[in-house]
Amino acid sequence: MKKITSVLLAGALLGTVMAGCSSGSDKSASDSGSKSTDGGKEPSIGVAIYKFDDTFMTGVRNSIKANAEGKAKVDIVDSQNSQPTQNDKIDLFISKKTNALVINPVDRTAAGVIIDKAQSANIPVVFLNREPLPEDMKKWDKVYYVGAKAEESGTMSGELIADYWKAHPEADKNKDGVLQYVMLKGEPGHQDAELRTKYSIEAIEKAGIKVEKLEEDTAMWDRVKGQEKMAAFLGSRGDKIEAVLANNDDMALGAIEALKAAGYFKDGKMMPVVGVDATAPAIEALQEGTLLGTVLNDANNQGKASVSLATVLAKGDTPSKDNIGFDITDNQYVWIPYKKITKDNINDAK
Ligand code: GAL
Ligand code: CA
Repeated sequence: MKKITSVLLAGALLGTVMAGCSSGSDKSASDSGSKSTDGGKEPSIGVAIYKFDDTFMTGVRNSIKANAEGKAKVDIVDSQNSQPTQNDKIDLFISKKTNALVINPVDRTAAGVIIDKAQSANIPVVFLNREPLPEDMKKWDKVYYVGAKAEESGTMSGELIADYWKAHPEADKNKDGVLQYVMLKGEPGHQDAELRTKYSIEAIEKAGIKVEKLEEDTAMWDRVKGQEKMAAFLGSRGDKIEAVLANNDDMALGAIEALKAAGYFKDGKMMPVVGVDATAPAIEALQEGTLLGTVLNDANNQGKASVSLATVLAKGDTPSKDNIGFDITDNQYVWIPYKKITKDNINDAK
């Protein structure tokens, strides 16, 4: 009787999932082989995103949804940029006996508490995009992290600026042989903000270029704040600014708005601006020639790897390259590579 009910339930669930997916045309072929064949019941996965109102994480969220089709039942919730809210949502997932969790923490130092809770309920956790501290990762072997190496993206964005500087002697506006730059930082304490800031400048220096930081401030990954901060930098530094580095595309696009308002990108008045993520609006800006370059932060594969990992864990299996389709480093980490994107290889990001 029980079995029949669960088969019926699974059928009903599958029906709902199928009804929710209109065409499924953008689903990659490699997914189709992994539909559950064990009599049907899809495992449940509770997903908490730090906030829905984030361009890049929206891409990851869409990938999670698409890649879960036919494999797992995902319930994705918005933590509204509040760790207490997220903790409440996680408690709810635990009380519903969700089979696995995918957590994009609001505050990555909160991971330890989340791991303790999950471990006592024996629910495996996959962290995503905001990397827990190594000591927290060591607390339990059913804890994983899916992300990208922040330093790699920093290095790549610095190289984009260095290449431009070398190819365009006129970029040294005051002819002092030094690159005067401003930095728009992401959320302080976020590994991507701290390491992109550091490694981008290191890469420029490694290319043999002297740098001078004119301004650095956080715009919290946000386009409007990026525009405001850039307008303020232009107000205080004006034509002294020779390059703009932003830790993500939204802030870079905000900076471009402020630069446009100050007369840039016309009549030969140029400014090299770089970001990270390769979001759709950033690709448009690359095409129109305002954004110099960006770094692909692969939302698709980050979402896909999270779902694959969580599904395997939810079934009580041990993840490996064979069953998740991604390499696992140090038994707990799945690293998705970044890629430099300019006008020349725009299709790689589409
Ligand atoms: C970064 C991304 C940012 C923002 C942030 C959220 O990896 O580049 O745009 O989405 O994650 O944690
Ligand atoms: Ca200069």
